[in-house]
Amino acid sequence: MNIVLLGAPGAGKGTQAKKLVDEFGVAHISTGDMLRAAVKNETKLGKQAKAYMDAGDLVPDSLIIDLMRDRLSEDDAQRGFILDGFPRTTAQAVALDTMLDELGKSLEAAVAIELDFDIIVERLSSRRTCSNCGTIGSKDDVSCPKCGGEMIQRDDDKPQTIQNRLDVYAKQTAPLIDYYQGQDLLVPINGNQEVDKVFADLKEAIE
Ligand code: AP5
Repeated sequence: MNIVLLGAPGAGKGTQAKKLVDEFGVAHISTGDMLRAAVKNETKLGKQAKAYMDAGDLVPDSLIIDLMRDRLSEDDAQRGFILDGFPRTTAQAVALDTMLDELGKSLEAAVAIELDFDIIVERLSSRRTCSNCGTIGSKDDVSCPKCGGEMIQRDDDKPQTIQNRLDVYAKQTAPLIDYYQGQDLLVPINGNQEVDKVFADLKEAIE
């Protein structure tokens, strides 16, 4: 199973990716998680990416494409993968096609989680993330339901940054819907439903 998850910030890509990984045992490859780890560890990549991420802008394609080329070659990705947050520009999508060709792999679906923008803003504003294990929760979670760690608000979930992320999505990432439609890979899913119903629809569509 090699799948791309598309959708605006807060559409539920990370939430659904984790459920797919639990069910199918494939690798969860999230560029956002990889970049946040790089920022936390103050690596060269993290230092280059931080300002873009804090502003809600995209990190330059060249950095992301190199990161992904290495990641797709790792052992766990050989049994299948869910790409969460990549590709995000047409240049990244074209680079992904080339990388997969070189690896003798192909995509089975590009799942687009669609939902109303006002719901997105509400979800992102109330999202909290475990500072220890990365579990996604809401502002009602006093501590992480999985490991008991501290639940914090991502810097880019502050109201002024959310709007920029949505603008960036509309301008730079939404064109990928047409890109994958053109490759006959697009699978639209209604994200305006509870988590388990979204997952049930997703599973039915890809199986
Ligand atoms: P990234 O981490 O990828 O952020 P994003 O795409 O903005 O996506 P999010 O993680 O915000 O949302 P999500 O769709 O995963 O939703 P979630 O499941 O958490 O990227 C962050 C930054 O890194 C970017 O801005 C950019 O700077 C950089 N970056 C990353 N990749 C890049 C790339 N390829 N190129 C360049 N730059 C890149 O859900 C959100 C909330 O809603 C949660 O609280 C969740 O519990 C809740 N929720 C989810 N589903 C439901 C549901 N069905 N019902 C009710 N609540 C729900």
